[in-house]
Amino acid sequence: HRTRVVVVGGGPAGLLTSHLLHRAGIDTVVLDRRTVHEIETTHRAGILEPDSVRLLTETGVYDGGGQRVLTEGDRHGGIFLRFGGRSHHVDFERLVGASVWLYPQTEVFTDLHRARTRDGGDLRYGVADVQVHDVETSPRVTYTDADGSPHEVTAEVVVGADGSRSACRNLVAGNTRYTREYPFAWFGILCEAPKSAPELVYTRSDRGFALISQRTDSVQRMYFQCDPAENPDDWSDDRIWDELQSRVAGEDGFSLAEGPVLDRSVLPFRSFVQTPVRHGRLVLAGDAAHTVPPTGAKGLNLALADVRVLAEVLERALRKEDLDLLDEYADRALARVWKAQHFSYWLTTLLHRAPGAPGGDFDELRQLGELNSLVSSEAGSTYLAEGYTGWPTR
Ligand code: DHB
Repeated sequence: HRTRVVVVGGGPAGLLTSHLLHRAGIDTVVLDRRTVHEIETTHRAGILEPDSVRLLTETGVYDGGGQRVLTEGDRHGGIFLRFGGRSHHVDFERLVGASVWLYPQTEVFTDLHRARTRDGGDLRYGVADVQVHDVETSPRVTYTDADGSPHEVTAEVVVGADGSRSACRNLVAGNTRYTREYPFAWFGILCEAPKSAPELVYTRSDRGFALISQRTDSVQRMYFQCDPAENPDDWSDDRIWDELQSRVAGEDGFSLAEGPVLDRSVLPFRSFVQTPVRHGRLVLAGDAAHTVPPTGAKGLNLALADVRVLAEVLERALRKEDLDLLDEYADRALARVWKAQHFSYWLTTLLHRAPGAPGGDFDELRQLGELNSLVSSEAGSTYLAEGYTGWPTR
């Protein structure tokens, strides 16, 4: 089988690549080891920047039947920063004239998957042994299908959109990896309960970070900082609620509406960037090239922003038969990646407890000083609002 671009990875980044290239008249084959059902049922982040929403609404993902992200999603004009037992509203609308949308990544996947299926896209999920060959000359991708039969697809370019445990990125010869590890992780739950607050609550407490997010009127998403080695099975519903309640408790009497815990897991937590993002006829996009800690929900937004630039540059590079034009993708994407790396790192260290750090309580008290200056300063709050709602992509 021959196609123009093989996309390794059929998550949101891979599907959007395939969708945008299709609109430019370029055929793709999308391969993913996971099944559609596995992807649809793995809970990920839930916040879209306005640019990400526009990518869905302005590139023909939806047809006649309405724009699901706008009808099913919830617009949020700000967030609450909670510390010292009180909540402080950061009003993005007032500060930067922008808002974000609460719309789960699983829904973004479903929308893109529907659009590709509607447009006759060649999507091959549930395949095994995906291997990429000869990216320096004429790329080939081999795999076996669900019946165990071997297949080969040749292409002009391979896009590695295979996520945070990418195999494609290992094919970039002479790469450099920049990483930051954190001494904590997130415990994430999905629960059946009404909303506890009108917008998301990012909490710094003496027991560590907690985030109160949402999904629907009757299902909520919440997270709390935990030990990376924590075993989700050791946590009963009661223990989870005690921990969450004690982290958000305060003089204003705020408390969470409780309900049955439907899903619980410990999320990985690190900062990572690999360069270069291109090697010969292979280009990386999304988590394959960079991972951010979840605080601030930048991961999906960054991946979609990568793909917007990549599709535009790739279309030009293929038309002019000049693969060196792909270097423009690297320059444009990486500028935004490092802004988001800083933002995610900053929001993480602003709100998490660093267990056992030397220097007494210096960091704890410094953190409160930073939070107080942030919420009392127009300039400080504006930086938070700009970063959270996202920077324009050149
Ligand atoms: C969600 C996740 C995040 O990491 C975040 O910063 C905000 C929201 C979420 O899953 O809803």
